[in-house]
Amino acid sequence: MTGKPFAPACERNRGPILAVLREHFAGRRRVLEIGSGTGQHAVFFARALPQLSWQTSDRAPALPGIRAWLDEAGLPNTPPPLALDVGGVWPRATYDAVFSANTLHIMSWDEVELLFAGLPGVLVDDARLVLYGPFSYDGRHTSASNAAFDASLHAMAAHMGVRDFAMVDALARSAGLELVEDRAMPANNRCLVWVRRRASRPPVAAAPNARPRMAGPGSDRSRQRRARDGRP
Ligand SMILES: C[S@@+](CC[C@H](N)C(=O)[O-])C[C@H]1O[C@@H](n2cnc3c(N)ncnc32)[C@H](O)[C@@H]1O
Repeated sequence: MTGKPFAPACERNRGPILAVLREHFAGRRRVLEIGSGTGQHAVFFARALPQLSWQTSDRAPALPGIRAWLDEAGLPNTPPPLALDVGGVWPRATYDAVFSANTLHIMSWDEVELLFAGLPGVLVDDARLVLYGPFSYDGRHTSASNAAFDASLHAMAAHMGVRDFAMVDALARSAGLELVEDRAMPANNRCLVWVRRRASRPPVAAAPNARPRMAGPGSDRSRQRRARDGRP
């Protein structure tokens, strides 16, 4: 590819996010990043936190851009990016931390559900999950700019939109995750941090490689949500 992809927002938000990761990823070793985008965050965080192996991932079309950032940086703790669509096949490896920024409002709600359905298969006990992005609370946006952003997402694609904290936290709890922090970030964003509790691990799946699907596109819960959202 010619040139590296570049997202100005990453340059603005990476410092405040790093402060959260320094705290919550202390003592962690293996991070899976979901929806790495350009790869800018990965290079910045992996350089600042050299004790971590920072595994980038995204849908296949994003991988050349991520590779360009990783190759240029030449860091020892950034393995080649993985092709990971949360609705597809997940890595067989396990991680003690997962990070994802600005992805939930881009994914469809079904994909958000599949993201949380996939997490138990890759998280070890006591693993941390950090999600960064805009969230609404009790159906209300936290700022006029987030409301305008949500409207612009809907206008771009009906399946996109700012997610409500309570609905995301409900999915997280179903995946055995307990919220440990909800931190306000600059520009009306949040960092949500969960820990995976051993006691709440869901029952072992019947098939050796089966992963729990909490609500796939054909499930009742998913259909109810689509109906409520006015989506087919
Ligand atoms: C707004 S970008 C954010 C990228 C980067 N994390 C950042 O903060 O700049 C959203 C990312 O989510 C990824 N994404 C969207 N749907 C996905 C899916 N179903 N599975 C995995 N990644 C997905 C996109 O490819 C894109 O890289």
